[in-house]
Amino acid sequence: MIIRKSQDELQAMREAGRLTALTHDVVAAAVRPGITTASLDALAEEFIRDHDAIPAFKGYNGYPASICVSVNEEVVHGIPGARILRDGDIVSIDIGVVLDGFYGDMARTYPVGEISEEAKRLIAVTETALEKGIAAAVAGNRLSDIGHAVQSYVEAHGMSVVRDFVGHGIGRSMHEEPQIPNFGRPGYGPRLKPGMVLAIEPMVNVGGWEVIVLSDNWTVVTADRSLSAHFEDTVAVTEGGPLVLTQA
Ligand code: MF3
Ligand code: CO
Repeated sequence: MIIRKSQDELQAMREAGRLTALTHDVVAAAVRPGITTASLDALAEEFIRDHDAIPAFKGYNGYPASICVSVNEEVVHGIPGARILRDGDIVSIDIGVVLDGFYGDMARTYPVGEISEEAKRLIAVTETALEKGIAAAVAGNRLSDIGHAVQSYVEAHGMSVVRDFVGHGIGRSMHEEPQIPNFGRPGYGPRLKPGMVLAIEPMVNVGGWEVIVLSDNWTVVTADRSLSAHFEDTVAVTEGGPLVLTQA
């Protein structure tokens, strides 16, 4: 069952989304060559707790940190640690918060210093793919219209979308129904209705779509070790169109 949120619940989710986006701003401002991924995690955790919220990922299925930090060929679920970011890296940062019982979930890929033209193009394509997916999150559309919008845009630009991880409904749990693939034919699945809240999160690879999980049992990398980017927003379907909750 897809849970539809009331106006009051959407208002609460807007606040959770706002805090998630503000945390991104804090972390993004610290991304630079020489910083460790663990220090980005510490910054995020402190900011979230200072705002009477909880880092949503910490302890989730045993996940050991507050945010996910995935560098270069790492797709998602990179664990922050002693790794030092270097000039030319790209870093995907995924942040979840729980504020007053509601979840916000948001990811962005940031450049570290000066990056290659290929990396810039990957980031731009992934960001626009998220925008295409959001634009399809309209009442009356069907769920698969979102994934179709993402996939057709990405593949038209010669890149691929990850199949093994998907977006999700979100609310009082981080993961609610439905699952939201970033690929597929249009016109299938449940009809989108006002009050549904969706975490739309394309993961895009420069090379093939296949991924593997490293022996830490978390870090997902591209099978061909090509660069990968990840953009995610928490989006409400409303009468007036898609509303991005994860914005400042
Ligand atoms: N944003 C991811 C998701 O939607 C991150 C959660 S993975 C975690 O599932 F283990 F770190 F929590
Ligand atoms: Co998510």
